[in-house]
Amino acid sequence: MDDDARERAEQRTLLMPRRDQGSELRPGHALQEFVIDKLLGVGGYSCVYRARDTRLDRTVAIKEYLPATLAARHPDGSVGPRLPRFQAFYDKGLEGFLNEARLLGSFDHPSLVKVWRFWSENGTAYMVMPFYEGITLKKWLHDLGAPPSERWLRDLSEPLMAALGAMHEQRCYHRDVAPDNILMLYDRAAPGSYLEQRPRPVLLDFGAARRVIGDATQQLTAILKSGYSPVEQYEGEESLRQGPWTDVYALCAVLYTAVAGKPPSSSVARVVRDDMPPAAQAAQGPRGRYSASFLAAIDAGLRVRPEQRPQTMAALRALMDAPVAPHVAMPAAAPGAAPAPSRAQLWWAIVVLAMLAAAVAAWLLVR
Ligand SMILES: Nc1ncnc2c1ncn2[C@@H]1O[C@H](COP(=O)(O)OP(=O)(O)O)[C@@H](O)[C@H]1O
Ligand SMILES: [Mg+2]
Repeated sequence: MDDDARERAEQRTLLMPRRDQGSELRPGHALQEFVIDKLLGVGGYSCVYRARDTRLDRTVAIKEYLPATLAARHPDGSVGPRLPRFQAFYDKGLEGFLNEARLLGSFDHPSLVKVWRFWSENGTAYMVMPFYEGITLKKWLHDLGAPPSERWLRDLSEPLMAALGAMHEQRCYHRDVAPDNILMLYDRAAPGSYLEQRPRPVLLDFGAARRVIGDATQQLTAILKSGYSPVEQYEGEESLRQGPWTDVYALCAVLYTAVAGKPPSSSVARVVRDDMPPAAQAAQGPRGRYSASFLAAIDAGLRVRPEQRPQTMAALRALMDAPVAPHVAMPAAAPGAAPAPSRAQLWWAIVVLAMLAAAVAAWLLVR
């Protein structure tokens, strides 16, 4: 196939996240002092393996940067961009991956994935983490088959709010809080089903690498997890600043998913028309299963406008216990404090200003 035809074929499939069959490292493959044991998980941006640390004789997890849409593994085992024009994006994604590793390595919180080591090799990069025995919250909620209790959800959110709060203190934002990035640890030896165990969540990957790659492949819906990403994370929304409230939105979206059985509507759709029922209305199960303050806190965190949400994890935490007057209904939508001027209004303003300028000019001329 000539380069042009190959490029066209690539174009056709570019919007489909895909991974070449067998592009992951095989069991027994040696990387530094680690030996790959098995593939644990495949995301759009990486492969995660269980591996053996032969020096310290312990099991670890290793994440390899391998963005499915941009990269391929060559026959010699190295990884690189599929097409020359992907090079710049591939490199930027790689830089994001290394930054994420560096950042995670600097934190030490039981609910934030720990990075022990990272390095570049084979044209790509690797990070070594503790191997966590667990399943993602996404699968957990699916296996549970019914909305969890408020007690359970509070036990889940406490450590997550603490971990995110600790990050925010260092001016770091996770930006990818979603059910598939929360790993629920469980104790295999404990009696009963793992679904009954007290939640012990660990926050996995940051959104750093995927943001960069998103620019390259325009997979905005894939990168910005529909339903979990607030409006300030969308392209072209630079006017709205990201901050702790960005993670507040995503965490509340996770809680909303848990109580309502489905994720919130996409925040972009909600800007145009917000007909998403508030958690207070969408919560499943008998009335009173969830306290008014807990549901009101979720709804407050899910307000479309960043400035209308609780601004910090501590503020969200406080809201969860704040009394809610029964007659004060939480706003379902997120009405703007001052609605943004419409295009027509802007045009009118320009026309009026132009007329004023013309009048002043005429006055100056005839004076
Ligand atoms: N330290 C770990 N221990 C065990 N499993 C992990 C670990 N890190 C990641 N995984 C598994 O790999 C999957 C993808 O990991 P993640 O960090 O979310 O990568 P991606 O950037 O590709 O989304 C997770 O959903 C989880 O199942
Ligand atoms: Mg992930």
